[in-house]
Amino acid sequence: MPPAAFALRLAAPMRGIGIESSFDVLHRARQLEAQGRTIIHLEIGEPDFATPEHIQEAAYRAMRDGYTHYTPSAGLPALREAVAEHVARSHRVPVDPEEVVIVPGGKPTLFNTMLALIERGDEVIYPDPGFPIYESMAKFLGAALRPIRLREELGFRMDIGEIEAALSPRTRLIILNSPHNPTGGMMTREDVQRLARAVAATDAMVLTDEIYQRIVFEGAHHSIFSEPGMRERTVLMDGFSKAYAMTGWRLGYGVMPREFAKAVTRVIGNSTSCTAAFTQMAGVAALRGDQAPVARMVAEFRRRRDLCVPRINQLPGFRCRMPQGAFYAFPNIEATGFTARELQDRLLEEAGVAALSGTAFGPGGEGYLRFSLANSLENINEAIDRIAAWLDRQRTAGQR
Ligand SMILES: Cc1ncc(COP(=O)(O)O)c(C=O)c1O
Repeated sequence: MPPAAFALRLAAPMRGIGIESSFDVLHRARQLEAQGRTIIHLEIGEPDFATPEHIQEAAYRAMRDGYTHYTPSAGLPALREAVAEHVARSHRVPVDPEEVVIVPGGKPTLFNTMLALIERGDEVIYPDPGFPIYESMAKFLGAALRPIRLREELGFRMDIGEIEAALSPRTRLIILNSPHNPTGGMMTREDVQRLARAVAATDAMVLTDEIYQRIVFEGAHHSIFSEPGMRERTVLMDGFSKAYAMTGWRLGYGVMPREFAKAVTRVIGNSTSCTAAFTQMAGVAALRGDQAPVARMVAEFRRRRDLCVPRINQLPGFRCRMPQGAFYAFPNIEATGFTARELQDRLLEEAGVAALSGTAFGPGGEGYLRFSLANSLENINEAIDRIAAWLDRQRTAGQR
C-alpha cells in the first residue's frame, strides 16, 4: 500500500500569529524591481546608515580574541555592566547588571516577557496603531486583547483615561512604546506619572518599548521605568538596531526586576541559549565609545523630517503631523478618498513608491500611511513627486 500523504498540522495558537507586513511589501517591491521597475523604498524600518566603524572594529577584534563561544544566557558581564551604566545615566535611576538580560535584538525581550507572563485569558493592553508584534504575540498566547486607540488630535499619544478604563483584575501586561512606531508620537511626563499611579493599584506589569529612545526631535523622552515604585513591575526593552544602525547584528536587552530576569534567562536557556559573543563585545564598544555617529544620524533624520513633512502636507488629501521621534511620517490620507490599503497597493504598483498602509499596525491605522524616513532626502523627495504626479493623474482621469 502506498503511504498516506503526509498532512502538516500546525498547533492551534499558530492561527493567531501574524507577521510584519513591511516584509510582504518589500517582497512585492523586489518582484517589481526584478521586472525592471524602479521602486523607492519607504516601507523599511531600518536606518539607512552603516554601523559605525569603531563598532565593526570591536566585533572583528572580539572574534580574533576568541569571543566565538557560548556566553552566559543572560549575557556577558561586560555588556550587562555597560547597559546598566547606560540605562542608569539615561533614566537617572540606579541599575544593577543583574537586572539586565542581553538578547538577540529588541524583539526577543517582548517575546520572552510575554511567554513568561501571559496565560490564556489574561488581558494585554497595547497601542493601536502599534508595532504589530504586540498583538500577534498576545493572540498567540491566547490573551484577551485590549487595544487602546491612538488619536491624531492627541498627537497620537495614548489617552491615559482610556487605559485606566481598560484596567481590570485580569490585566497582566501594559505595553507602551515611546517614541512610537508608526506615528512618531511621544508620552508626556504627565502621561507617564498618571499611568504609574493607575497601574500601582493593579497587579499588572508594564513593558516599555524604548527602541527609538535615542531618536527624539522635540521635547524629552519620559519613561515609566524612572517613576517611583515602578521598577518592581516594569520591563524596559531597548536594543542597538535603531540607535546604532545595527539591525542585522541582532543585539538588544531588557532591564527588569531581578527575579523576573532569572525567569527570562531560563526562557533563553530553552531557546537561543545566548546572544553571539562577538556581537555583545561590539555592543560594549557601541555604548562606551564615541556617540557622535548617533547624533549625526539623528540630525539627518531631523533634517529629512523638517524638509519632507511640509511637502507631504502639500499633497492633495494628505495631512501630516510632525513626528516628535522615531523616523516615520504618518500622514492622514482619508481625504484622498482611498482606503489605506488601496493607496498602499496602488502607490506601489502604479507610482513605484513602497509605503505601508496604517492598517499594517492595527485597525486604528485606517486612514493613514506610514512613510519611513530611512532613505536619502533625494529619494524621499522623488517619492513625494511621484505621489503628487499619481494623485494628479487620478484627478484628471476622474474629470474625464
Ligand atoms: C516599536 C518597535 N519595537 C521593536 C522593534 C524590533 O527591533 P529589533 O529589530 O531590534 O528586534 C521594532 C523594529 O522595527 C520597532 O519598531
